[in-house]
Amino acid sequence: MSDKYLELANSKFGGSLLSALGLPKPVVLMRESADRPHRLSGDVLCGSSTGAAFSENINTTLASTDIKLVSADSADKCNLIFDASGICSAEQTVELYDFFHQNLAKLGRCGRVVVIGHKPSALQDADHATLQRGLVGFVKSVAKEIGRKGATANLLYVDRGGDSAIAAPLRFLLSAGCAFTNGQLLTATAPVTEVDLQADWQRPLEGKLVVVTGAARGIGLAISQVLARDGAKVIGVDVAQSQSQLNAAMASVDGVALALDITAQDAPQTLIDCCLQHADKLHGIVHNAGITRDKMLSRMTEQQWQLLMQVNLGSVQKINRALLATEMLDNGGRIVGIASTSGIAGNVGQTNYGFSKSAVIGMVESMAQQCADRGITVNAVAPGFIETQMTAAIPFATRHIGRRLSSLGQGGLPVDVAEVIAFYLSPQAVGVNSNILRVCGQNLVGA
Ligand code: NAI
Repeated sequence: MSDKYLELANSKFGGSLLSALGLPKPVVLMRESADRPHRLSGDVLCGSSTGAAFSENINTTLASTDIKLVSADSADKCNLIFDASGICSAEQTVELYDFFHQNLAKLGRCGRVVVIGHKPSALQDADHATLQRGLVGFVKSVAKEIGRKGATANLLYVDRGGDSAIAAPLRFLLSAGCAFTNGQLLTATAPVTEVDLQADWQRPLEGKLVVVTGAARGIGLAISQVLARDGAKVIGVDVAQSQSQLNAAMASVDGVALALDITAQDAPQTLIDCCLQHADKLHGIVHNAGITRDKMLSRMTEQQWQLLMQVNLGSVQKINRALLATEMLDNGGRIVGIASTSGIAGNVGQTNYGFSKSAVIGMVESMAQQCADRGITVNAVAPGFIETQMTAAIPFATRHIGRRLSSLGQGGLPVDVAEVIAFYLSPQAVGVNSNILRVCGQNLVGA
């Protein structure tokens, strides 16, 4: 479904009209190019607080890209990185103020702001932890100020031992793949397996087998396309009723179509058997299949409740259990869930959906640590308003308002969710565990 307001705002006549009326003009976001993905270029201006801890990691990361480091004098239309990890007193916050006060205007259209800090719980000193927590409110506020430029601001917290794992999250937050991920907090933790910084950043998933459920259309199709672009062999799963759509989808990515209802009793075993036909190891599973059965709770039937719970939650747990009973995911595997901002903020008529999506967050929080011991990461995305058949069914006025509620003034595209998932799945993101990134353009709902 096209966004007519976004088209109008980006036309010559429409742009002038909206300016004259004082109405917001959302920017067409810059996204990854299909033929040269993950290419990081342009200028970056870096700053740091006194006592900052991660300058060396930042420099090493940037040195592996085509990014040019510029000085404040020559900076123009650049990205901004600030290492705020040394800030440990109210007085010292002026260093953060100075850097952004002087340089925020130099941020380019669709530019990137990344602030780096210590994860507060990783610090012994209460004052230091207090100040590091303040970065969340700062970054979210910056994100709201710069959203009209199509730019994003995100915070990267570094946990104990996470400094060796900064490269992948920092690269992601600077990339075009981060187009609709705004005002978010990502944590780099101690890597569960060794970080391979020599790995291929362009085709990080070369030759790796990944399962995507609900792959016939919408977000699942976009995930399959992006993972295939990154080199993965995709096994796409969807219900038999969608078989022809699924076949076409998998043919387009040279993947494997598996017609399977994930709620079927034997679904976990069928899935495992299918994987074993193609490889001994499974690199990752993306639990994307999901349904809505919206109704006010007093009118919701038990069948609507139960069916949704089986698809969005029960089957995900059963498949995880079956996979973890094998060693297919050990030493480098990835489990990715799809939550929703409805699971964070709740939504009218979505008690069942909100429960299931909140439970996906619970799954990440509860499984991440135990899986880390086996070298497996568990993360999720929480999409907001994404342009799919699901959101096209929302009544016109609500849909229109829903789009404008984000700092970027528009809905996201399925590819925006897919890019975050591709980042989670990349072997370099080995220190990215137990994260829930909202892909919502900093929508007011659940922001
Ligand atoms: P969609 O309805 O377009 O696609 C879902 C796919 O899952 C369909 O192809 C469907 O046939 C498949 N599926 C459903 N039940 C299945 C089952 N039992 N076994 C196998 N496959 C099954 O949905 P969309 O919009 O692409 O959403 C994908 C995921 O993202 C879902 O988990 C959804 O809850 C979540 N999400 C979507 C948002 C949006 O704005 N579109 C916002 C937040 C979360």
